[in-house]
Amino acid sequence: MVTLRLEELKGHWALVTGASSGIGREFAVQLAAAGVNLAVVARRADLLNALASELSERHGIRVLALRHDLAEPGQARRLRQRLQDEGVTLRLLVNNAALGRWARFEETPAESYEEIIHVNAAALVSLCREFLPDLSAHPSSGIINVSSPAAYQPVPYMAVYAASKTFVHSFSQGLHAEWRARGVLVQTLVPGPISTELEGATAGRRATRHRSTPDKPVRAALAGLEEGATVVVHAKGTYWQRLFALLPAGFVIRQVGKMFARPDHGNLLDRS
Ligand SMILES: NC(=O)c1ccc[n+]([C@@H]2O[C@H](COP(=O)([O-])OP(=O)(O)OC[C@H]3O[C@@H](n4cnc5c(N)ncnc54)[C@H](OP(=O)(O)O)[C@@H]3O)[C@@H](O)[C@H]2O)c1
Repeated sequence: MVTLRLEELKGHWALVTGASSGIGREFAVQLAAAGVNLAVVARRADLLNALASELSERHGIRVLALRHDLAEPGQARRLRQRLQDEGVTLRLLVNNAALGRWARFEETPAESYEEIIHVNAAALVSLCREFLPDLSAHPSSGIINVSSPAAYQPVPYMAVYAASKTFVHSFSQGLHAEWRARGVLVQTLVPGPISTELEGATAGRRATRHRSTPDKPVRAALAGLEEGATVVVHAKGTYWQRLFALLPAGFVIRQVGKMFARPDHGNLLDRS
């Protein structure tokens, strides 16, 4: 079993995508406190630069603030090149960046869906692929791919986001099986609902009731690395959703449709 202790990561490098807000920012904060050097990636350079100054001053680590739009093809290769130019060999990759839409399908243009699919799924795959040589250069190393309870079943009104997370969930566990023999622990993290900038993050009454804060799933993920955990679920109030796999698909979709219908739009499924 591959395990990765936080102490071992001290002085090594981690890359965190989507570090300008929410869960990604919290990953950067907790890793910095453990003495890990960081490459933080997102589009909002002002937020990344402020985070980099704060963390490097407070913890005496190196932080590279790298502005990349992961919706653009070829960014994973560019990121690897930038890190190579800095003489950095990654030991931990945190694939956290994502975006979503909470609306009826027809209310969003196709380009926005392409962007969601590219950031949430395609860029994540490319980052794993590009950084494999870095990761396998260490005796043990890790990847954390951030999934969601939305991966457990289809979600009307967030159909593309949920499908992208199902992709992450499946891909990440498949990769774990392939790479553990190389000493690379691929963890799939399932955080529960948290109020962040993510659209639809706490959609549905149940999600609002069980809302968490970013520090908790991040702590669980880092503890999970130490234990060699393949899937880390920190999603209070959503455990029952995993039972959906055992129930008839029509029943499941009606229940989830009720949960995720926007109050201002009503539920289309009521009329079918
Ligand atoms: N919040 C929840 O309830 C919840 C629950 C389960 C799973 N998750 C998952 O947790 C992860 C983090 O989400 P969050 O809730 O922390 O959301 P968030 O606050 O909206 O953060 C998303 C991050 O992704 C970055 N990002 C978005 N588009 C990007 C692009 N094109 N290129 C580069 N970076 C991009 C954003 O930075 P810029 O805008 O600066 O680019 C931001 O830093 C996601 O994978 C999400 O699916 C969240």
